[in-house]
Amino acid sequence: MHSLIIFASGAGSNAAAIIAYFKQNGKAKVSLIVSNKADAGVLDIAKKEEIPFLIIDRQTLHETMLIEQLTDHKPSLIVLAGFMWKVPAAIVHAFPGKIINIHPALLPGYGGKGMYGHHVHHAVVAAGERESGITIHYVNEVYDDGNIILQARCHVDENDSPDELASRIHKLEHFYYPRTIEFLIE
Ligand code: GRF
Repeated sequence: MHSLIIFASGAGSNAAAIIAYFKQNGKAKVSLIVSNKADAGVLDIAKKEEIPFLIIDRQTLHETMLIEQLTDHKPSLIVLAGFMWKVPAAIVHAFPGKIINIHPALLPGYGGKGMYGHHVHHAVVAAGERESGITIHYVNEVYDDGNIILQARCHVDENDSPDELASRIHKLEHFYYPRTIEFLIE
C-alpha cells in the first residue's frame, strides 16, 4: 500500500478528493496531513477521516525533525494541495522527485510569487483569456517552476467571474489530481 502525505493550507477540497479516490480504489492511503494553519479546513477533514496531522510554524520549524517525521511515513509522494509556503530547500532535497504541486492555471502563465488562489483567477479573467486550466508539476526550489507532469484545460467565458472560473478549475483539479497521483505511484 502506497503512503501519501498531503501538505495543505486551506479548505482542503483537493485533499478530500484524493482521500475519497484512494479510499475507494485502495491503492494508496493518506497517512499524514501537514498544515501551516491551525484553523485550516483541511484539518477538519483530517479529524473526520482519522488521518494524523501535523501543524507547522515557520518560527519554530525544525527542518531535520520534520524530515524525520515525514520519512517515518515512507511516502511514495508528498502532495501539495493548496499549500501556501515555498517548501524549504532541505525538504525538497530530502525527497527528490517525490514532491508534486497543483497550480490553478496553465504554467508558466499566471505563476510565481503572489499568484495563488483567487489572485490567479482574477488575473486570468482581467487579462481576457479565453482559456485556463491546471498544471500538476514536480516541486523544486523555485516557485511554480518544476517539470510539468500534466496540464488540463478549460474555457473561460466572456462573462465569467473569478469565482465561476475557480469552480470550473476545482472540478478539473478534483478529477485529475488523484488520477495523476495514481499514475505516478504505479
Ligand atoms: C487549488 O485551487 C490549488 O490549485 C491551489 O490552491 C487551491 C486549493 O484549494 N494551489 P483546496 O484547499 O484544495 O480546496
